[in-house]
Amino acid sequence: MKAMVFTRYGAPDVLTLQEVAKPAPGDDEVLIRVRATSVTSAECAMRRGRPLWGRVVLGLGRPRKRMRTLGLEVAGEVESVGRNVRRFGGGDQVFGFTGFTLGACAEYVCLPEKASLAPKPANLSHEEAAAVVDGASTALFFLNGKANVRPGHRVLVNGASGSIGTYAVQLAKHFGAEVTGVCGTRNTDLVRSLGADKVIDYTKEDFTRNGERYDVVFDTVNKSSFLRCKGSLTRNGCYLPTSGLMNNALMLWTRMAGGRRVSTGMSVEKNEALIFLSELIETGGLKVVIDRRYRLEQAADAHRYVEEGHKTGNVVIAVG
Ligand SMILES: NC(=O)c1ccc[n+]([C@@H]2O[C@H](COP(=O)([O-])OP(=O)(O)OC[C@H]3O[C@@H](n4cnc5c(N)ncnc54)[C@H](OP(=O)(O)O)[C@@H]3O)[C@@H](O)[C@H]2O)c1
Repeated sequence: MKAMVFTRYGAPDVLTLQEVAKPAPGDDEVLIRVRATSVTSAECAMRRGRPLWGRVVLGLGRPRKRMRTLGLEVAGEVESVGRNVRRFGGGDQVFGFTGFTLGACAEYVCLPEKASLAPKPANLSHEEAAAVVDGASTALFFLNGKANVRPGHRVLVNGASGSIGTYAVQLAKHFGAEVTGVCGTRNTDLVRSLGADKVIDYTKEDFTRNGERYDVVFDTVNKSSFLRCKGSLTRNGCYLPTSGLMNNALMLWTRMAGGRRVSTGMSVEKNEALIFLSELIETGGLKVVIDRRYRLEQAADAHRYVEEGHKTGNVVIAVG
């Protein structure tokens, strides 16, 4: 089968299309014929091998053999299953998250039956479904799991035009919050159309200096800091950054201190989230924003584009 492989860390050119062995499902595994995957900013960081601590998982000097094909999000159809598998059968249309095993940037991928995998929303194409998996489930993990957003909460989403951000605006509205989206000039109409009550153009206004207070500041793109945002939080407000080692330390510190707090973490187990999101999508409650589409052999171009840091919503790769 064809797979996009990288054997060393570096610029997008390290990705090459190669012929590799088609995987065979183990007893508890599902073999998926990949129809679509995506390129996320997290995967660009993995490909670069930066930050360095990421190499503890991926491989110190070069990517480990079993992690040489990227691809976190997948949509496709089940081709065959191992003999112990009960949840899925041949022909099922699915979408899911490969997690630390990666591998969706290829014609086939095997995932354990227990992996984050669910029936694909019936009203989405494979490309749209792949674009839902990580961004929407991460937004849900933070807004519902970490901040418990409820009706009446004032939520600010920084990076409202990105993958996590476009879903965060919609999910915060779904939970009944009053939502402010922060994005650049060219995306203000889009963010408003996703349901934001107020939109702040970050090129014209610094949201940390406008005197407003929010119950939740969700920085999906990690362009702010707790220190800068503290004054924008209500007394028991919550600051949600999606990454940053320092933020983990701040999470422990602010938990002990009480009052305004930092909450962060990694959304890895996504099964429940995928089922929740699927229902929401099928009832028209969540839109998918796709910026660009590429073919498998154009994955390096997709990485080049995503790496610029200005994609709107999601970038997907059609496979086959
Ligand atoms: N914790 C977890 O489980 C988890 C899971 C997935 C990802 N992540 C992390 O989440 C981050 C990426 O999120 P993502 O994929 O949603 O991002 P993304 O889609 O790559 O973000 C791109 C968007 O960010 C906007 N942006 C750039 N600078 C901005 C600024 N200063 N203020 C406001 N918006 C700005 C850009 O708009 P303009 O073009 O107008 O600049 C663009 O639309 C990464 O750090 C990744 O590691 C964490």
